[in-house]
Amino acid sequence: MGREKIDETGKGNLILVNADHGYKGGKEGLVRFPGTKVFLKEEAAKWLKELLLTLPEGEIVLVSGYRSFKEQTEIFEDSVKENGMEFTKKYVAKPGCSEHQTGLAIDLGKKAEAIDFIRPAFPYEGVCQTFRERAADYGFIERYERDKEEITGISAEQWHFRYVGRPHGWIIKEKGLALEEYITYLRQFDDYKNPLHFRYFGNKYEIYFQSAEEEGFLPVEFHGGKFQEELKSGQLAGTLEGWRITISGNNVDGWIITKEKPDKESREETGRED
Ligand code: DAL
Ligand code: ZN
Repeated sequence: MGREKIDETGKGNLILVNADHGYKGGKEGLVRFPGTKVFLKEEAAKWLKELLLTLPEGEIVLVSGYRSFKEQTEIFEDSVKENGMEFTKKYVAKPGCSEHQTGLAIDLGKKAEAIDFIRPAFPYEGVCQTFRERAADYGFIERYERDKEEITGISAEQWHFRYVGRPHGWIIKEKGLALEEYITYLRQFDDYKNPLHFRYFGNKYEIYFQSAEEEGFLPVEFHGGKFQEELKSGQLAGTLEGWRITISGNNVDGWIITKEKPDKESREETGRED
């Protein structure tokens, strides 16, 4: 059996980035979202585009996507000057700890003449609400919800969406978890023989957690060797025995492995646990 060495947990669609877990990755894999000045990780941009295509054109505006450390610092400092520290800490992540630095987060606003950059309006009605209801099926979650403020450390932000990919967005929404809670929840599935089984959109999934043991290297023993590609998001991907496998770090203490296979017997378009 081969042993792939992956020496970091800070890359991939499922990385947890918050005040306790800064972003360690770089800016690789960013693309400009067509027709805007906003940059996002390629996979996140692709799925956001698909989702926006299901909605009336031009009614939702991309306000802020990827930000460099420098930009996040400027936003934070400008906000402290304009709004004070108390407000700023509620709505602007401290530099180094913003999801915007990953390229996986997008702030959206309802089209208007003036859009607030830090707190754009994205109401729980109309086209914005339709976006919200469809988001999970395109791999996005509303990241900062009112009842999770204690956990996320950020006040409710109805405009901030985070790409986590399929089927994770759906599971997170169904279970009503913050991303912090989902990362914890997955730790119980701690072996490839003990995965979370899941069916969704005609696919079968097995998801499990691999702890960052052995000096932080990931022992990839289940597939006997080589991954075929490194995805633009920094995730690793490969195939084994008909499974498509992606590996994302959790940016805390390990990796989340997602195995996906077409599921001929079950074509239903909603998710369910086995
Ligand atoms: N507004 C979010 C918390 C950020 O600054 O990353
Ligand atoms: Zn945001």
